[in-house]
Amino acid sequence: MAETDELIESEQDAPPEELEGGRVEELDSETRARRDAALRHVRKLGDPVLRASALPVERFDELLRSEIERMGELMGDALGIGLAATQIGILNRVLVYRADPEEPLTALVNPVLEFSSEETETASEGCLSIPFVHVEVERPAEVRVRARDAQGEELQVHASGLTARVIQHEMDHLDGVLILDRISREARKQAMRDMREAQEVSAGELAGAA
Ligand code: NI
Repeated sequence: MAETDELIESEQDAPPEELEGGRVEELDSETRARRDAALRHVRKLGDPVLRASALPVERFDELLRSEIERMGELMGDALGIGLAATQIGILNRVLVYRADPEEPLTALVNPVLEFSSEETETASEGCLSIPFVHVEVERPAEVRVRARDAQGEELQVHASGLTARVIQHEMDHLDGVLILDRISREARKQAMRDMREAQEVSAGELAGAA
């Protein structure tokens, strides 16, 4: 997976796999503008809604379907591979993902974890709600999730690899859990330092460009 944050791209020879953050080598100005616009709709670290637990969806109606559609669009525009409803301030147990660009978007409503493997994998994750931060997160390598689709039909997803990872990341969001909660205290401190530094550089670049 390629890296989207130019900052990090220039700092690292081998960019880590980014989770919500995308698969783009170089962003042309239009793609970048669309991404920035989408990211403005995504709640960022510090927003209390990211710490809230979402509620089960009871009505599978047009409103739900339009929310899912909007989430898919925002995720795509933001160059992410997953998005949870809480990230756009909607407290519904809904997530969307597309870990494999060849696959269509998947929406999971009221997802429930039925099985997770004892075997774990550790990989780098980013989050659209936590700009500039990439941390190594250990998670079960394989999961089976029961959920409903946008129409209310039951479905079951058995996933491994990146798909299992993104599903678990987004399910965490529905419970108010962030990647920062999945790492050691030391790693968290480092991540916050990285974020502050990157924000300062970014602010400086913006000032320079204005
Ligand atoms: Ni996230």
